[in-house]
Formats: sequence, structure tokens, C-alpha cells
Amino acid sequence: MEYSQKVLLKDGRSCVVRSGTEQDAEGVLTNFIATHAQTEFLTTYPDETHITIEQEKAYLKGKTDSKRDVALIAEVDGVITGTAGVDSMGAMDKTKHRAHFGISIDQSWWGIGIGRALTDACIECAKAMGYVQLELEVVADNKRALALYRSAGFIEYGRNPKSFRTREGKWQENVLMRLELTDGN
Ligand SMILES: CC(C)(COP(=O)(O)OP(=O)(O)OC[C@H]1O[C@@H](n2cnc3c(N)ncnc32)[C@H](O)[C@@H]1OP(=O)(O)O)[C@@H](O)C(=O)NCCC(=O)NCCS
Repeated sequence: MEYSQKVLLKDGRSCVVRSGTEQDAEGVLTNFIATHAQTEFLTTYPDETHITIEQEKAYLKGKTDSKRDVALIAEVDGVITGTAGVDSMGAMDKTKHRAHFGISIDQSWWGIGIGRALTDACIECAKAMGYVQLELEVVADNKRALALYRSAGFIEYGRNPKSFRTREGKWQENVLMRLELTDGN
């Protein structure tokens, strides 16, 4: 899905939230590697990603051309500061109403409203694409993300105490959350 919106951040700067293009591939990959090295809360370690710029270009083009998925970037002063996306959880009749939401922002840009802007934009896109329910998983210790999701209306519907195991052998419990986008009909 194609999307573009300008948002005013808490520090007065302007942020463009838009669907990624092939030209963004290098910046998106750089941001992905950085964010995955900065926090223990994401699903993979940075050295587990072996995506080439060509693959990233094709990925971003595919998401923008899609009517069921969106890959958004947040750009401030020409820098890709974060990404977020909505991905279909299946095209079959029983599951086509459900989509997954994911987000990550470079730590040096936290706390000025980019997370909120990307989350709001993803919810808007999910509604526009006709989804009934947006879903996510978040590590229970990730207080910042939990606060963001709760304030956006996501509610907890369960927990998985052994969702992730870190390389140090520590279990991470995930909170399962869902947001209803329509009256459910
Ligand atoms: C979670 C994350 C997306 C938040 O992004 P952000 O740009 O810092 O968020 P914002 O500045 O828009 O703040 C959004 C909300 O987060 C919460 N928040 C912000 N700073 C916080 C803090 N220090 N402590 C607790 N909650 C905080 C608040 O509820 C805030 O709401 P507000 O808009 O009413 O102020 C970002 O920290 C991140 O990418 N983290 C690493 C990757 C990650 O954990 N992704 C989620 C995986 S499920």
C-alpha cells in the first residue's frame, strides 16, 4: 500500500511517514541492523540478517504495490529513523481479517513521537486495507512499547512465557495484544 503523511514531532521537527521505495533500501537496511543491535526486544540478532540491498528493494516495492501489506518509514531531515509495517496473516477466508504489526526506531530518535506517528499511520493503513484485527507480540519487559500499544488501544489477550530465548539462555515472556479496527462485523 502506498502512504504518505507529514507529522510534527515533540521537538518541533517535521517527520515524513511514508511507504518505503526502492531508493530507501540502503537506509532501511542500515536502520534495521542498528535497531536490532540496540535492544534485546526484537525477534532476531543483527548478524542473523543477510538481506542484500537488491532483496530489500524488491521487498519494499512488493509492499508498496501490495493491497494487503504496508512497509512504512519515518524520515526526519532526510534520515530514515525508524520503520513499521502491517503484514497480512493469511489470504484464506478464515484469517484474511487479521494483520500483524511491527515497529522499530533507532534509539537516538526515541521519545520524540516517531513511535506514535508510525503506530497511528499503521493503524490507519490497516483500516484502509479492510482489516478487522491488528495483532502484535511484545516482550513483557519492553515497558516503552507496552505503554505505546496500550495508549493506541491494543489490549492484552495472553502471554507466552517462553517466547524467546536469548543467546545468554534467558527466557523472554511475550505479551500477545490485539486491536479491533471495526465493530467486528
Ligand atoms: C517502542 C518504540 C517503538 C517507541 O518509539 P518512540 O519513538 O520512542 O515512541 P514515542 O516517542 O512516540 O512515544 C510513544 C509512547 O511511548 C511511551 N513512552 C515513551 N517514552 C517512554 C518511557 N521512557 N517509558 C515508558 N514509556 C514511554 C509513552 O506511552 C509514549 O506516549 P506519548 O506519545 O503519549 O508520550 C521504540 O522505543 C523502539 O523502537 N524500541 C525498540 C524496538 C522495539 O522494542 N520495538 C517493539 C517491538 S514489539
